Amino acid sequence: MCQMWIAILLICLFCCGCRAKPEEKAAERRISKRIALEDAMIKLPEPKRNGEMSLEKALGSRECKRNFTEQDLTLEQISQLLWAAQGRALDAITGATRTAPSAGALQPLELYVVSKDGVYHYGVEKHILKKIKERDRRSQLANAALGQFSIAEAPINIVITAVYGRTAAKYGERAPRYVHIEAGHAAQNILLQAVAMGLGGVPIGAFHDDQVQKVLSLPQNHEPLYIIPLGSGLTNLKNFQTNINYSIFKHDPCDCDPFVYHFHRLSEIGT
Ligand SMILES: Cc1cc2nc3c(=O)[nH]c(=O)nc-3n(C[C@H](O)[C@H](O)[C@H](O)COP(=O)(O)O)c2cc1C
Repeated sequence: MCQMWIAILLICLFCCGCRAKPEEKAAERRISKRIALEDAMIKLPEPKRNGEMSLEKALGSRECKRNFTEQDLTLEQISQLLWAAQGRALDAITGATRTAPSAGALQPLELYVVSKDGVYHYGVEKHILKKIKERDRRSQLANAALGQFSIAEAPINIVITAVYGRTAAKYGERAPRYVHIEAGHAAQNILLQAVAMGLGGVPIGAFHDDQVQKVLSLPQNHEPLYIIPLGSGLTNLKNFQTNINYSIFKHDPCDCDPFVYHFHRLSEIGT
């Protein structure tokens, strides 16, 4: 009899244990998810508003840099580059604007940062980075851009994407023109800011849109327009000549433009 009661007691304890475990596990999962999420949100430091280099000096020394040292960028530098591209500023009419103009203030651009730590989306309003993808995707991104090695070597790439619909809602057929002009404004801001901080970069337009979207897991309507590798730049065109993998796009007639472009560039620099 006594043995029977002990057996019943043990069964009850076992059942209780079984019931408790999934709840505990769920709670643990919730906590670790919250920690992961907090970890994935990076509040960027306040950007500086008084750099040491004049605009004229930055303009005069701007040139594309396609080779980089291995030195990582600091969070301050990343913050400054993103702010230059699309950061919040003030204007006299609406009170709120950004560092680059936007047709109808419709702000179609969305920025992403691709580094060795993963892929991040830039939240303009809160000046934050939100991690959307783990792990280093730079080599995959370089492959999507016809093997352009600068993308894989640079400590960070800023990818400018656009949501055309935001501008099209007001401007209809004229929207693509406005959106592309705006991407140019943002890209030039980034490149000049880089020069002013002693960094370098190159605006890259030759890539397969669909592959870039896939590698970065971009939302369908965030269409990539520019990839800008950035870092401590070196002037070394030799690698530029030899490392491009032409075979990726040689056989695809849609990609003849980048090929002609690179071919032209190679002859331009005398090889
Ligand atoms: C729309 C656009 C697309 C470009 N695409 C690429 C590219 O895919 N790869 C690259 O290495 N440079 C690219 N560049 C950079 C040009 O090659 C570079 O600006 C040009 O050779 C002049 O050199 P500089 O900027 O040093 O004066 C692009 C520039 C622009 C404006």
